[in-house]
Amino acid sequence: MIKLTTVSLQRARVGIFALPVCEDADIHSNPVLQRMDGQAKVLDEFSGKAKQEVVLYTPEGTLMKRCLCSGIGKKAAIDDEVLRCFAGRCVKKAIAAKQQKVMIAVPEADMLSIPWDRAVAAIAEGACLANHIFDKYKAEKKKKPLKEILLRVDKKPTKALQNLAQKAEIICSATHQAREWVSTPSNDKVPARLARMFTSAAKLPGLRVSVLDEAQLKKKKFGALLAVSVGSAHPPKLVEISYAPKNARKTIALVGKGVTFDTGGINLKPSSGLDLMKIDMSGAAAVAATMIAVSRLKPKYRVVGLMPLVENMPSGSAIRPGDIVRSFSGKTVEIGNTDAEGRLILIDAMAYAIKKYKPDTMIDLATLTGACVVGLGSKIAGVFSADKTLADAIAASGERTHECCWPMPLPEDYKELLKSELADISNMPSTRYGGAITAALFLSEFIGDTRWAHIDIAGPVFDKKGSDYCGPGALDSECGCCATCSIACRDCNAA
Ligand code: BES
Ligand code: ZN
Ligand code: ZN
Repeated sequence: MIKLTTVSLQRARVGIFALPVCEDADIHSNPVLQRMDGQAKVLDEFSGKAKQEVVLYTPEGTLMKRCLCSGIGKKAAIDDEVLRCFAGRCVKKAIAAKQQKVMIAVPEADMLSIPWDRAVAAIAEGACLANHIFDKYKAEKKKKPLKEILLRVDKKPTKALQNLAQKAEIICSATHQAREWVSTPSNDKVPARLARMFTSAAKLPGLRVSVLDEAQLKKKKFGALLAVSVGSAHPPKLVEISYAPKNARKTIALVGKGVTFDTGGINLKPSSGLDLMKIDMSGAAAVAATMIAVSRLKPKYRVVGLMPLVENMPSGSAIRPGDIVRSFSGKTVEIGNTDAEGRLILIDAMAYAIKKYKPDTMIDLATLTGACVVGLGSKIAGVFSADKTLADAIAASGERTHECCWPMPLPEDYKELLKSELADISNMPSTRYGGAITAALFLSEFIGDTRWAHIDIAGPVFDKKGSDYCGPGALDSECGCCATCSIACRDCNAA
């Protein structure tokens, strides 16, 4: 639970109080905070440089057990991300110190170069995101998340500011949910199980959930999706979650790649790093979690989430390279490579979304290509859209949440790289160069004139080490969830 408080610093009884300390300025005007800031800086090992930390025990004139002074660097360089990281580090420290709550000092409005509401939101986000431990598979639960996060402000907070903190909490708890799904091992999230996890999490006011099973998918002719799942002992599912407020004038469709494990199929992947392929359902996790956040944030427009869930396995019944399948759209696809499976399930889910919901805007999220990781590295997602306004809005929203999305090109003349002699299109480009682009171009052949963007999240999906406000493991969900939440829930021009 996160709350803003104006409690007196002399009277606050807390086990751990966290104070941001700037290297080249004092960003606090309250004398109690100024004194602690000064005491920390007297110590030789501490100057307020970013990530430096020092603990003052029972600081004078307060009832606090300890004050964690955390360096945030030079004043001019303080931005949302610096504050997010500061708050994340404080929460992690408080958890390590076996605390149940933390009180964080929010710098005053006129002490920062970013707007105060943004600073409060960033601190709330960093603190909430860091307050999560995935220990389901450990017998010994060493750490417990905090029960309460208090943001200490000097002035009485407005209702709008309180709402910002609540909103951050809603988005961050959806992000935790998505991360847990991604971190769950594939033996515990085969399509039917993952569909159940999504549906039970989405039993919320305002959401309608339905699941298409294998028989229904066959009847409706999801030929490309079924081709991927036919090699697995675990049948596919298509989960649909919709949110439709009264008088909604626009519809946004979110489609997430849900490959619960990607072996590559008959084009089997090499064994090194294969265990990572449990993350290949991150797009679906991000979409399902976004729908949970949507039910709580209640945007004005209709939002539908579609999650095609399959397992990509090699077996006697698996599709072969060279096979030709008929997709939901009616177009035939030659399977040049069974490892290019994400695009196959996405084109069927997207064509179905267009037919059923006629969305004004459709966004898909997918761990689609290794090429995107090669091109943009592990912290940046690629955004592909013929609609520049939409691509820019996604990039801008990613910038606000520090989930960088880089606009990528969709060159018409690369489409010839996807030509097939026998079918309408091949799922395997004739060159490996520009693999993230050709994958996006493949998808673009199935969206008609729908306003659409594709976000390739293969890079930022996972971080073995974790960061200041993320635990080790799944990360993308954040990327997916926050970026799409921003689009779905903030008044940005993408809506
Ligand atoms: N799931 C992978 C992409 C991936 C790679 C995700 C690394 C996360 C980290 C995807 O299904 C895949 O295998 N793509 C192929 C496409 C190729 C065969 C055209 C790839 O990127 O090599
Ligand atoms: Zn693959
Ligand atoms: Zn894949």
